[in-house]
Amino acid sequence: DLYNFRLINPVTKVYGIIGKPVGHSKSPLLFNEAFKKVGLNSVYVHLLVDDVAKFFNTYSSVDFAGFSCTIPHKEVALVCMDEIDPIAKKIGAINNIVRRPDGTLTAYNTDYIGAISGIEDGLRGSNGSHPATGSPLAGKLFVVLGAGGAGKSLAYGAKQKGARVVVANRTFERAKELADKVGGQAMTLAEVDNFHPEEGMILANTTSVGMKPNIDATPISKEALKHYTLVFDAIYTPKDTRLLREARECGCTIVYGTEMLIRQGFEQYKNFTGLPAPEELFRELMSRHA
Ligand code: ATR
Repeated sequence: DLYNFRLINPVTKVYGIIGKPVGHSKSPLLFNEAFKKVGLNSVYVHLLVDDVAKFFNTYSSVDFAGFSCTIPHKEVALVCMDEIDPIAKKIGAINNIVRRPDGTLTAYNTDYIGAISGIEDGLRGSNGSHPATGSPLAGKLFVVLGAGGAGKSLAYGAKQKGARVVVANRTFERAKELADKVGGQAMTLAEVDNFHPEEGMILANTTSVGMKPNIDATPISKEALKHYTLVFDAIYTPKDTRLLREARECGCTIVYGTEMLIRQGFEQYKNFTGLPAPEELFRELMSRHA
């Protein structure tokens, strides 16, 4: 009973994940288990959607309580919203939609919050010298590898926390475009091996270099990793990439891509319910159903 069908009645709140494909998504499992445990009269279903604009036009009168949004709809769905979180708007992608009591749709991007909060907690755990208030990213030199959707999320997220941002990308023009938007520096991916203006930098890989099946690839030399204090890899297949292994060997704090994945879910749960996320339950379900 994945969808808690036996619990559904006329006042049950219905949430859904919009995507194509979507059947593989573990979100219904996570949310429905959490709703059941907390005793919320809510269900969360898979919604296989082809044309997201048509979906919102057709179903705007249906009383869904909220949506998650995944590939390939994160950009197109944005234009169907009544209100958008300012950073999500800058990133140009949303993945979390809440329906207000007046029927309007408010959208968020919890991907960048998931990644940035994972990195912040990594820094807090590894270094007692961070400021007691504010973000441990403030003032740090934050190097983003990649300038696609995930690269934008990390660059805008880091900028919002007061970091100085560097964008390094295989295609320089894309790095330049993003760096200009966040008031940062641009370079090619090849240049990053020799870039170490200071020690204690933060690295976030958002390129697909090192992703299955190319697990022997890495976007930066091991030598260069010595200048970083924390390394995050957005890749989660495999969980332990060559980049993260080498970073660990260099003494860096590492943050896994799976951490971004699970934390973006915490944020969605909070936005949907107004309650704290059931973090332990989500973690346990994710590891049990990996
Ligand atoms: P996502 O939404 O996951 O960020 P994307 O928008 O397709 O995906 O972006 C993929 C990123 O990985 C880009 O920064 C891409 O670099 P280009 O802009 O030069 O295409 C980078 N990338 C993909 N394959 C790569 C490779 N073999 N070497 C270096 N960078 C690569």
